[in-house]
Amino acid sequence: MKTVAVVGTQWGDEGKGKIVDLLAADADVVVRFQGGNNAAHTLVVNGEKFILRLIPAGALHPGKVCVIGNGMVVDPIALAGELDELRGRGHFTDASLLKLSCDAHMVMPYHRAIDRAREARAGNRAIGTTGFGIGPAYEDKMARVGLRFDELANFARFRTRLARNLADKNAYLKAVLKAKPLGISEIVDQMKRVRRRLLPYLCDTGAYLAEAIAAGKRVLFEGAHGTMLDIDHGTYPFVTSSNCIASAALAGAGVAPGRLDAVLGISKAYTTRVGAGPFPSEIKGRLADRLRTEGEEFGSATGRPRRIGWFDTVLARFAARLNGTWGLALTKLDVLTGIDPLRVCVAYQVGKQLFYEMPPGRSALERVRPVYEELPGWSESLSDAQAVDDLPSNARRYLERIAELSGARLAMIGVGASREATIVLSNPFLA
Ligand code: IMP
Ligand code: MG
Repeated sequence: MKTVAVVGTQWGDEGKGKIVDLLAADADVVVRFQGGNNAAHTLVVNGEKFILRLIPAGALHPGKVCVIGNGMVVDPIALAGELDELRGRGHFTDASLLKLSCDAHMVMPYHRAIDRAREARAGNRAIGTTGFGIGPAYEDKMARVGLRFDELANFARFRTRLARNLADKNAYLKAVLKAKPLGISEIVDQMKRVRRRLLPYLCDTGAYLAEAIAAGKRVLFEGAHGTMLDIDHGTYPFVTSSNCIASAALAGAGVAPGRLDAVLGISKAYTTRVGAGPFPSEIKGRLADRLRTEGEEFGSATGRPRRIGWFDTVLARFAARLNGTWGLALTKLDVLTGIDPLRVCVAYQVGKQLFYEMPPGRSALERVRPVYEELPGWSESLSDAQAVDDLPSNARRYLERIAELSGARLAMIGVGASREATIVLSNPFLA
């Protein structure tokens, strides 16, 4: 298969970065199509840790083209910073490898200010956003007042539009959010500086991708966040402001339906979420603390402790349906070592009623009780396993049961943080 999308099937942080990084070895082009620097992919390459927020994870492989698609909202200052950091560490040094869509929207400092001021005022109704201005930037896109990278070509015109937007936002910040207004000169100075740096990367990325696909190149679409954070299908309003399911790759990269050959869903062997909102299989107390520590479950973007839960097969079936997954990569199986028994959520219960599929009206999730099946754990370390046969029999049993209940073909199994600690059963590019 030539074109593959990787998407999260839970609430983000499923370990997509690592799987994208692994698949990137066989791809020519890696594309991000939604979200912004609210996403953060942690990668360990040759023992060195990298956090990528905006640049696709292909950047850590020499010679891969990385595309920032039109569906993203990009903080230009953060992007310039990320480029500097990668180059400072000797990666992604060839400037021709970055393609930045001229139609992607820019996240401006007032978006961040609004995001933070709103969350601070919301008290216990807060969404728990990352505070990077993602929601307000998408709002402006839909309100048709957003600033796209394209605007940077004519700085005088950009400045006029910026001033108009800023006047509106400052009025809102002061009168409604009781927050400090922002000055224009600092924003203009910063934008002048990054403008010169980013202009060389601007292009029509949809046209570039059409050509690449026609030429038979292998293209990897890198989803951010996860299915349950999707603005339409997730746990609204506790979601991010973009579509994160596989079909968003088409609109967000400017690629036609039918051009996507396969979707690889990524799940953790348990579940996590950051921020507020329903989480049926959540666990608390010592076991959650243990998994959080063992799995290093602290947000890569914000450092916040992640909430922890058991694997939820209701979510898994829902995600498989929405994304049309060809296969499933299950990450961090090693983190479950030593926990006995293990539990898997097989259904939700409301009163006497059992739901094996997602109940209609996602607010129902706030009232459901998880129904669990117990499975025996294992105590052997998994870190040296290179094939399924190397895994303890109870770990194999856990995998088989998850695959069966999720209706998914297991394609990869993560048994550690590094690129190498992945058992590959089936690589979609080679399938
Ligand atoms: P926003 O995307 O910053 O607006 O945050 C909205 C919700 O999505 C919050 O609950 C965030 O914690 C969550 N979120 C956004 N991006 C990610 C991610 O990459 N991983 C996990 N959660 C995320
Ligand atoms: Mg993340």
